[in-house]
Amino acid sequence: MSKRLGDAPAPEMLDAAERMSGEEMRALQRERLAWTLRHAYANVRHYRRAFDAAGVSPADFSELPDLTKFPFTTKADLRANYPFGMFAVPREKVARIHASSGTTGKPTVVGYTQDDIATWAGLVARSIRASGGRPGMMVHVAYGYGLFTGGLGAHYGAEALGCTVIPMSGGMTERQVQLIEDFAPSIIMVTPSYMLALLDEFRRQGRDPRATSLRVGIFGAEPWTEAMRAQIEEAFGIHAVDIYGLSEVMGPGVANECVETKDGPHIWEDHFYPEIVDPETGLPVPDGEPGELVFTSLTKQAMPVIRYRTRDLTRLLPGTARPAFRRMQKITGRSDDMIILRGVNVFPSQVEEQILRVPGLAPHYQLVLTREGPLDAMTIAVEAEPGSDAGERAAAARTLSHHVKEMIGVTASVEVRDPGAIERSLGKARRVVDKRPKG
Ligand code: DLL
Repeated sequence: MSKRLGDAPAPEMLDAAERMSGEEMRALQRERLAWTLRHAYANVRHYRRAFDAAGVSPADFSELPDLTKFPFTTKADLRANYPFGMFAVPREKVARIHASSGTTGKPTVVGYTQDDIATWAGLVARSIRASGGRPGMMVHVAYGYGLFTGGLGAHYGAEALGCTVIPMSGGMTERQVQLIEDFAPSIIMVTPSYMLALLDEFRRQGRDPRATSLRVGIFGAEPWTEAMRAQIEEAFGIHAVDIYGLSEVMGPGVANECVETKDGPHIWEDHFYPEIVDPETGLPVPDGEPGELVFTSLTKQAMPVIRYRTRDLTRLLPGTARPAFRRMQKITGRSDDMIILRGVNVFPSQVEEQILRVPGLAPHYQLVLTREGPLDAMTIAVEAEPGSDAGERAAAARTLSHHVKEMIGVTASVEVRDPGAIERSLGKARRVVDKRPKG
C-alpha cells in the first residue's frame, strides 16, 4: 500500500485553533457548547420541548461530560420539523439553504447565516490546506453543485484559501478530462467513485492519467478504503486525502486528513464536538472504542445541532499532525449500509478491500441482495479489467469468492461483468442493490 506523504503547512500558515493546546481547546469547547445549548433552547421549539421532556436545561451544563445529559437529535427530528422548523434565526437571516434528497420521504433541509457560510468556507479552506493545497493553486471541483453541499462547500472553501476555482460539478465526464488537461489544476475535489469514472475516461481517450498536473485529490461524501486510496494514488500519481462531512452538521469539511500523515481525518473540534456512542443503547463509549459518531455544533447560528446521530461508524483517536484535534478512523460504513447476511454483519467497504486484492478485477462493484427461500443471498457484481478472457474472469471470480469467505466469513456468489457494465454515478456510488421482497 502506498503511503507517500505530502508536505505539512508551515506553522505560521495554520489557524490559531490548529495551534492550541488540548487545554485551550477544551476551554473553548466548554464556552461554545454553553452558548449553543442556550441558543438552541431559546430559539428552537424542538429543542425546548426535547430538553424539557428530558428534564434538562442549558443551566445543567458546566463541564464537557455534562453534554451526555442532553437528548440526541436524529434525522427523524429534522424531518418532523420540515422544512424550516429547526432554524434558530428568523428565515430572513438565513443566507442559504441546502437539502439532502434521502431515499424515502421528505428531504432533510439545512440553513446557514452569512456568518455560518463564512465559518464553513474557513473550515473547508483549512481542510484544503491540510490536504496540501496552497493559495494560488487551481482547484477543479467535481462534487455536484446545487442542493448537495459538496460543490458549493468545496467552492467557497477553495476561494477562501485564495485558490483559482473551476466549478465543474459532476457529469460531462469527457469534458472534465479535457479541462483537466487544458487548465492544468493542481487539486481535484470529487467523490472517489467518480474519480474512478474519470480514470476510465482518461484511458478511453488514450491519455496518461499519471501525466496530468494534478498533485492532490480530496475525496469524500462516501466510504472508501485504504485499498482504494492506494489504487487511486498509483493510477494518477497523486496524494489521495480524505474529507468528511454531512449536511446536517455543515457539509464537507467537518473533518479532514492531513497529507503529512494520512491517518484518518482530524475533526475540526473548535466548531464540532464529537462523541462516540453505542448505536444500540446510545451510551457513550470511551475514545478508541468503535461506535456511532455523534456531533454537537459549537458555533452554528442558523441551525445548531445537539448530539446529532450521524449513523456513521468509527472511533476517536488522538490527534497526530494537529494535536489539538482528535482524529476519526476512516469511516468504514454507515449503520444504514450494513448488510446482515445469515447473521454476519457485512459492510460494502469490506468487500471493496477484497475486490482490490484480486488481479483482473476493476474497482467498480455493487452488492445485490436477494432472498432464496427464507435466506438472504448476496451477489457481488464486479467488472473485469479490459482485455481479460473468460478463463481469467472465472479464476478472478473464484479468488474473490474465496477471499470473501476467508476474510469476511460469508458466502457470496460473484458475477464478473464486462468493463463498463456496472452503473456509474456522477456523485455518490450506489453500492447496495436490495432486491429482497419488502416487508
Ligand atoms: O456528503 C458532504 C460532503 C461532501 C462530504 C463532499 C465530503 C465531501 P451528505 O450528503 O449529507 O453530505 O452525506 C453525509 O456521507 O454521514 C457519511 O455517511 C458519508 N460521508 C461523507 N464523507 C465521507 C467520508 C456530504 N470521507 C454522509 N468517508 C455522511 C465516508 C463519508 N463517508
